[in-house]
Amino acid sequence: MRILFYLDDYPHEIWRDALLAENPDLEFRSYPDWGSPEDGPAYALVWEPKPGLLKDYPNIQAIFSMGAGIDHLTRDPQLPKDTPIIRMGDDGLKEGMAEFMAMSVLMHHRQMPYLLEQQKTKNWARVFAPAAKDVQVGIMGYGALGKAAAEKLKPFGYNLVSWSRTAKAPEEGIKHYSGTETIDEFLSGSNILVCLLPETKETINLLDKERLLKLPQGASIINGGRGGLIDLDALEEVMTSGHIESATLDVFPKEPLNTDHPLWHQEKLIITPHVAAITRPDTAANYVVRNIKKLENGEEPENKLDLNRGY
Ligand code: NAP
Ligand code: GLV
Repeated sequence: MRILFYLDDYPHEIWRDALLAENPDLEFRSYPDWGSPEDGPAYALVWEPKPGLLKDYPNIQAIFSMGAGIDHLTRDPQLPKDTPIIRMGDDGLKEGMAEFMAMSVLMHHRQMPYLLEQQKTKNWARVFAPAAKDVQVGIMGYGALGKAAAEKLKPFGYNLVSWSRTAKAPEEGIKHYSGTETIDEFLSGSNILVCLLPETKETINLLDKERLLKLPQGASIINGGRGGLIDLDALEEVMTSGHIESATLDVFPKEPLNTDHPLWHQEKLIITPHVAAITRPDTAANYVVRNIKKLENGEEPENKLDLNRGY
């Protein structure tokens, strides 16, 4: 089993050691030392590979995305069309996102962005937070990460609802919505909106000004999905008008966010540099090796990208 590895900003040895711990026989080749396609079949494990690189290696049997998102691959116009793509879905990634969302929902519920602003001017501004049961947390995207976030949030007693493309079976502790026809009802009750949708043709700019205004007055938004889901000019407008009280944005259409972007100055907006859930080699290595075995046994791998759906 040969792995062609591509990642810019993380020590490769940590990944190599984690993968070898799962299978000491595998051969780990870190870019640019990928060798020749003539060297025989291989699997790619990549994050933001150089456009055009993957097409030069027709020996790649499957491409593992080092993240749950695959937009870093599909933006390459030369991406091989017939090679299966497998998205990350290991427990470490789910746990990381669940923690980030629990932290963020609590911060917005307990009005921390406002309190931190008051501290800057030494203002002793006491605020009264509603009970968790009176706060509706709407989770947009109820896939691997949306579900993990919901499980983490359940013990706090929030009124949880989800929204996704396809209908979900009834479940204790959360009400499900699905389909475009229910989006307005879903949004209009959500005091805190958690965005965990992938970026697809259907989801780009889904949260435009009209939809942002469907959220209740004083709502908060947390985006851990992809930056393209929200029209940032519209968000700026509805935050300035006070319709949206506070927000946390972890992802942006262009990263890093330009230093002259007006959102840096938006009060009660928390900006984090795409750190909500970073793939952890210790849990991801098992996921990759396990799924290579599945592929080699002719079984269906976990989380295979469906190009038609776009996720
Ligand atoms: P997933 O398991 O594929 O779940 C995606 C969810 O979005 C599903 O519930 C899906 O609906 C729903 N969805 C997709 N298109 C939709 C549409 N047009 N309308 C309504 N719902 C739609 O993905 P995941 O593993 O949870 O990851 C979600 C995203 O999180 C990734 O794509 C990535 O962009 C982002 N992410 C961010 C970070 C970070 O650090 N900020 C880390 C990891 C991932 P169905 O259930 O009906 O299929
Ligand atoms: C991170 O953004 C991921 O897609 O895993």
